[in-house]
Amino acid sequence: MAGENADWIPEDVDLFRASPSRVYDYLLGGGCNFAVDRDWAEQAIEKMPWIRAAARSNRAFLRRAVVYCAEAGQRQFLDLGSGIPTAQSVHEIAHRTDPRCRVVYVDNERVAVSHSELLLATVPTAGIVEADMCDVDKVLGHPVTQELLDFSRPVTVISTAALYYIPDDDLAAKTARRYLDVLAPGSMFVLSHATLGPHERDKMKLADVLKMTKTLTSSATARSPEWILSLFDGMELVPPGLVYTPDWRPDRLQLAEESPWQAAVLAGVARKPD
Ligand SMILES: C[S@@+](CC[C@H](N)C(=O)[O-])C[C@H]1O[C@@H](n2cnc3c(N)ncnc32)[C@H](O)[C@@H]1O
Repeated sequence: MAGENADWIPEDVDLFRASPSRVYDYLLGGGCNFAVDRDWAEQAIEKMPWIRAAARSNRAFLRRAVVYCAEAGQRQFLDLGSGIPTAQSVHEIAHRTDPRCRVVYVDNERVAVSHSELLLATVPTAGIVEADMCDVDKVLGHPVTQELLDFSRPVTVISTAALYYIPDDDLAAKTARRYLDVLAPGSMFVLSHATLGPHERDKMKLADVLKMTKTLTSSATARSPEWILSLFDGMELVPPGLVYTPDWRPDRLQLAEESPWQAAVLAGVARKPD
C-alpha cells in the first residue's frame, strides 16, 4: 500500500480530501490511494457492504465491452473519465485483439493522469489527456487526441462510471451528445451510469453513499433508467440493451449475479448507424 510520502504523489494533490479515482482504486484493490480515500471507502462499505463488488462489476463490464467492440472491428477508443490504471486498461484489452488499436484516455484528476502517463510512456498507440470531459473542444483538439485518433473513421467513445460525476443533468447529457455527434457511422458508445435500483432498502443505502460523495472532490448523482437510456438516442443498442453491469453479456470471468441491481450501475453498448 502506498504511503503519503511516496514519490509518485503529484505536488498539487490535496491529501486531505478523498477523490473518486483514488476511492475506486482502493475498492478495486489498487495501491494509488491515501488514508483519506481508504477511510472514506471503509465508511461507504459500512453503509453499502456490496459496494466493492459493484466497483468490480463495473470494471468487468468495461473489460467485456472493450473485447466486444474490438472483436466487432473497432480500432480507436476515447475513454472519458478513465481513472487510475488499477486493473487492465482499455489499450491492454484492445491490444489482445489488435496491437494497432489506438486509445486516448481522458481524466481530470492529477493522480489518475500521472499514473496513466507513467504507464503509457512506452506505449506509442495510447495517450492521456488531462481535461474535464465537459470541455469537449479541449479534449478533441488536444494534440494527443489529434495525433492518435482519426474521427473520419469509427471511434468507440467510452464513459464508464464517470458521467455521473457531472452533477448537472443537462450538462452531462449535452457532453455525451457532443462526443457522439462527431463520430463517424459505425462508431460505438460504451456507457455505464449509477442508478437507484428497484428495492427500497438497497436504494436507501446507495442514497446514503451518494450523500457521502458530497465530501469527495466531485460528488456523484444517480439517474433514472429513462434518463440513462436517452443518452443512446440515435444509436442502436446491441443486445441485451441497457442492463445492470453483471447482466451485460456475462462470461466465464464474470458470471451473472443473483441480485444484479445491487451493482447499482446500468450499462449498455450501442453502435452509430450507417
Ligand atoms: C469511478 S472512476 C471510473 C474509472 C473507469 N472509467 C472505470 O469505469 O473503471 C471515475 C473517474 O472519472 C473521472 N472523472 C470524473 N469527472 C470527470 C470529468 N468531468 N472529466 C474527466 N474525468 C472525470 C474521475 O477522476 C475518475 O477517475
